[in-house]
Amino acid sequence: MNLKSYLKEAQKKQYALGQFNFSTLEQLRGIFLAAQELKKPIILGTSPGEISYLGIKEAIALVEISKEKYKVNAFLNLDHAKDFDIIKEAIDYGYSAVHFDGSYLTLEENIKKTKEIVEYAHKKNVLVEGEVGAIKTESSKIYNQKFKINEEDLTQPEDARRFIEETGVDSLAISIGNFHGIELKGKNPKLRLDRLTEIKKKTGKTFLVLHGGSGTRKEDIKKAIKLGIVKININTELRIAYYQGLKRNFQKKNFELAPYKYLPLAIKKVKEKTIEKIKLFSL
Ligand code: G3H
Ligand code: ZN
Repeated sequence: MNLKSYLKEAQKKQYALGQFNFSTLEQLRGIFLAAQELKKPIILGTSPGEISYLGIKEAIALVEISKEKYKVNAFLNLDHAKDFDIIKEAIDYGYSAVHFDGSYLTLEENIKKTKEIVEYAHKKNVLVEGEVGAIKTESSKIYNQKFKINEEDLTQPEDARRFIEETGVDSLAISIGNFHGIELKGKNPKLRLDRLTEIKKKTGKTFLVLHGGSGTRKEDIKKAIKLGIVKININTELRIAYYQGLKRNFQKKNFELAPYKYLPLAIKKVKEKTIEKIKLFSL
């Protein structure tokens, strides 16, 4: 099955596929071990920042090797790309999907650029995720206070409809109170499920994507899936899990110095977190 057929199935059966971001072999291994244990397909995300560290060819090679090794169906998505060059590179080298984040542009400019990308990507059977509405902040931020969502950042249902119609995107990232990073208390603000319902009415069979999945209340995730979300992106919580694994070693008096002895702790933590998320997104 290709990524499109998995997303269609998710839409039909009302579950969501997880997109898990990585920039190291250990994160990737943790994610694959989780998918292998649960026998589930996964989407792997790499942002331009993550790629600038790991390398695009390395990411593809590691995913290909891991698919074979762990017998898992996995698909690479270029996450939050703003630049056509890196998008072209990902498409040419073999990514299954690309996310063009044109949310910083006017709707007209966003439509124009997204359309060009769709034309290029579809010739090579690569899926395109567009974005309407602003999803704020970064996956490396842990907030001390309540994060304030601005009403004007939320996706306007009519904008979403027009964007889809004029660009021909496969998927759409929407802003419904979600943001990147987490609040210290571990609870993001309640998702605007009323807005999601309105967006779904206007966007038909287009795959709706929830970014900023870390920290989101479990009950909101479940409801959002019922209302049409078929892909959920997780990054910050996996980064925290990785860090906790490393910290556990280096806080010990006689800590391990050999990476091959302490990195398995990070892998284990990432695996556990990914298992928790895949189970939450499943039926
Ligand atoms: O694109 C990546 C995701 O939206 C990650 O969001 O760091 O809040 O989990 P998160
Ligand atoms: Zn995102």
